[in-house]
Amino acid sequence: MPQTPPIRLGVNIDHVATVRNARGGRHPDPVLAAKIAIEAGADGITAHLREDRRHIRDDDMARLKAEIDKPLNFEMAATEEMVAIALRTKPHAACLVPERRAEVTTEGGLDVAGQRNVLAPRVAKLRDGGIRVSLFIDADPHQIEAASSLRAPVIEIHTGAWCNALADGDSARSAAEWDRIRTGVEMARRHGLEVHAGHGLNYQTAETIAALTDVVELNIGHFLVGEAIFEGLGAAVRKMRAAMDRGRSSSGARS
Ligand code: PXP
Repeated sequence: MPQTPPIRLGVNIDHVATVRNARGGRHPDPVLAAKIAIEAGADGITAHLREDRRHIRDDDMARLKAEIDKPLNFEMAATEEMVAIALRTKPHAACLVPERRAEVTTEGGLDVAGQRNVLAPRVAKLRDGGIRVSLFIDADPHQIEAASSLRAPVIEIHTGAWCNALADGDSARSAAEWDRIRTGVEMARRHGLEVHAGHGLNYQTAETIAALTDVVELNIGHFLVGEAIFEGLGAAVRKMRAAMDRGRSSSGARS
């Protein structure tokens, strides 16, 4: 029987830059963090160049592309400015996310269904530039269909609502959100989309979602950077890798 490949771990290093920017100097360096994460088992690095440059800056993105030897996932709003920077930087992938100036983090998925006309030419430009486009969406059937119709090869499912419901101890809401994720993953696969997931994940939730064998990549940032304060970034990435591998092998044991 063919073996399910291991689930990939993309480490998001935005919040290393958040700490650096608190004092305005060069320390801690997000590029060094990316190298440590890769050494510890990350399969790729994600960084979000926000319009307001609140954490990652243009120069970080250029250095990440030049200095890391694993795929770079350029998270970005679907603006002309960001499309132009991505085409110059030539990352492995671009993950298109909604962005609002006042938000603390990416609060919901991209409204691909509602913004089809704006997104279509930008997705096409990135695709023509040889960049693998991923659309960060809620596990909503309309959004999945819209993503498929834009011919984006990948979607990343927003796991934030599920993680928040678990953190709140609201079992009815977390069960409903989990169901939405599972159904969304199945539907996306039927449409031929590659499925990633992320936002708000920790060791437990990453282990749980890794059991869905159709999810091929998780992107995780804030929790890992937080854990790095207590046990170091390398140790936190290794622990995350182990949790994800446990989740994946438990699915094999069940099937
Ligand atoms: N994936 C996407 C598309 C995101 O916007 C973020 C947050 O920047 C993440 C994953 C990682 O989320 P977190 O930092 O909560 O792990």
